[in-house]
Amino acid sequence: MTHEEAAKQIEHLTERINYFSDQYYLKDVSKVTDYEFDILLEELIALENEYPDLKLNTSPTQRVGGALTKNFDSVIHEYPMLSLANTYSADELKQFDQRIIKILGDEPYEYFCELKFDGVAISLKYNNDQLKQGITRGDGVRGDDVTNNVRTIRTIPLATKIPIGTAFEVRGEIYMSKTSFEALNREREEASEELYANARNTASGTLKMQDSKIVAKRRLDCYVYSLLGEETPAMHSKSILQLQESGFNVSPTFALCDSIDEVLNYINKWETKRFDLDVETDGIVIKVDSHKQQRKLGFTAKNPRWAIAYKYKAENACTKLLGISYQVGRTGAVTPVAELDPVQLSGTTVKRASLHNANEIDRLDIRVGDMVFVEKGGEIIPKITGVDITQRQLNTHPTVYISTCPDCNTQLVREPGEAAHYCPNINGCPPQIKGRIQHFVHRKAMNIDSLGEKTIAQLFEHGLVKTPADLYLLKKEDILQLEGYKELSASNIIQGIENSKSTPFAGVLFALGIRHVGKTVAEKLATHFMDIDKLSAAPMEELINVEDIGEQIAISLINYFVDPTNQKEIRVLRDAGLIFKSQPANNLLSSSLTGKTFVISGVFSNYGRDELKLLIKRHGGKTLSSISSKLDYLIAGEKMGPAKRSKAEKLDIAIISEAEFEQMIELDDQ
Ligand code: IVH
Repeated sequence: MTHEEAAKQIEHLTERINYFSDQYYLKDVSKVTDYEFDILLEELIALENEYPDLKLNTSPTQRVGGALTKNFDSVIHEYPMLSLANTYSADELKQFDQRIIKILGDEPYEYFCELKFDGVAISLKYNNDQLKQGITRGDGVRGDDVTNNVRTIRTIPLATKIPIGTAFEVRGEIYMSKTSFEALNREREEASEELYANARNTASGTLKMQDSKIVAKRRLDCYVYSLLGEETPAMHSKSILQLQESGFNVSPTFALCDSIDEVLNYINKWETKRFDLDVETDGIVIKVDSHKQQRKLGFTAKNPRWAIAYKYKAENACTKLLGISYQVGRTGAVTPVAELDPVQLSGTTVKRASLHNANEIDRLDIRVGDMVFVEKGGEIIPKITGVDITQRQLNTHPTVYISTCPDCNTQLVREPGEAAHYCPNINGCPPQIKGRIQHFVHRKAMNIDSLGEKTIAQLFEHGLVKTPADLYLLKKEDILQLEGYKELSASNIIQGIENSKSTPFAGVLFALGIRHVGKTVAEKLATHFMDIDKLSAAPMEELINVEDIGEQIAISLINYFVDPTNQKEIRVLRDAGLIFKSQPANNLLSSSLTGKTFVISGVFSNYGRDELKLLIKRHGGKTLSSISSKLDYLIAGEKMGPAKRSKAEKLDIAIISEAEFEQMIELDDQ
């Protein structure tokens, strides 16, 4: 490929990928499969590596992350990032309106209303319509340069679709959608990692991470809410429309209101409807729409006079703490739970709330018998925000955290640096045993849906199942002993267990419930090591060399495989017929090209270039972007450049025709 051809192809790929990406992230439309998308992206990455000077600054490869920031530079904001005055009452809003009227006299004015998103403020600086810098709010005067992380956020345009100006700034809120937050916490739960408390703090923590690759995976999002610069439209509402047309993500919830009563209607309308949105919100922002009027109204020492935030009250209640109970999970981690005098909150009865760990109990100084404040905001789980000390009775005692397991009485341990206490009686503690079996049969693990929590408890209590491996020794007669089981339901269970034997290796590995090994990690390990023997024998250095496997996971794997009880469990599971080896990936058409590398050049009669690359991949081969001594085959199409041919000949690389290639992939089918 000549330099010129490479430039053309890079431009073409950049445009196509950005188009598919916009359709997906802004319009929710999938124009290509993930697989096709990845192939295009891979081709672009390879070309950009080969021709770094041709990389466009709108390249989608920046979204993948990779850049590390050790210390974020501190940057002074061109326009200070102010905060808004807050109010919780309709009366105060009316007073705000009166102040506006007093200054504007009899000029007509309109209010621009939109939801107040619960995330972190960001300032996005564009030069000649290209994203140059992303800066956090910081103290309002100076913030941190988090550009590398901001570039990974798909809904922030790297270049505007329609020109806006030579230098302008867009302000918005970076947030984590409820869906992404829940997915992240599910992944963490599967990997036995501590759960994040809420989406806002997670978004804020993520934005300040040093490794932009992790940021890219976390799927942050951004709604923009203002445009600053020399040549902005006269009305704020027009700027918002301009931003939307230029490819920015604007929440469709905005509205223009021509009186404060209309604003109050807008507030009422969104009070409950806001919970249906995929973003957490805590109020409404109300701004005077005309920029000229905004200038006339000016600022107080801290806030603009032309805007205000109306905050919805988080529903809260005060109730009595009846007791603290402790739950033991499958990993042995202990969670304290507040048992509350039942109280109504946001339409549901709340009886329990998590107290997280011993640190949280200390922080709240919460005691049985106390009156406590319970709050339910946008989040699903109610939280205890504090104790009403004024109502504390004289006979209460500081909470002493339990020192032994509530289920098996074993002395609890607390590892240095960990917030949770653990019960170390892994193989003798009932909730841990039942929890491990429940995890084993989970849909994403062995997928035995005929076995529910109740049946597992019955099997355990009858002494029939103590480890997942015991499931494979069960007979129909064993199940018939259990209360409520008849011929058909018992056969269903046995059949479900039997069917699970075809679960691929990655699923089996995940099912073992090794600490910190979630489904994604299990898949990575299964693909890398291909079978359990290689995995269990791998030393630390080899484990941490696998993509996304850090020291914590590696230590956990080593500890797991060194334990004789686990070795025995794997032996029994293997004898039962479970799969402990990776099969070639499902979407492979054959493995006839496994381990072989190809460069394609020229024009082909039966395939387009992308099609040919896809074919190579689906038969297990790999496409390289340039000819080197590592290459196995050069597939020569029509009009292949002579320079390529002579380079391949010099390096003694096999040059094959389209027909010869077709024969190679047919070999395997015979
Ligand atoms: S407009 C002068 N609109 O709330 C500031 N802010 O206290 C004008 N926020 O830090 C801001 N959603 O990060 C505006 N739709 C929205 C918003 C919003 C969230 C945040 C913003 C700012 C804080 C204001």
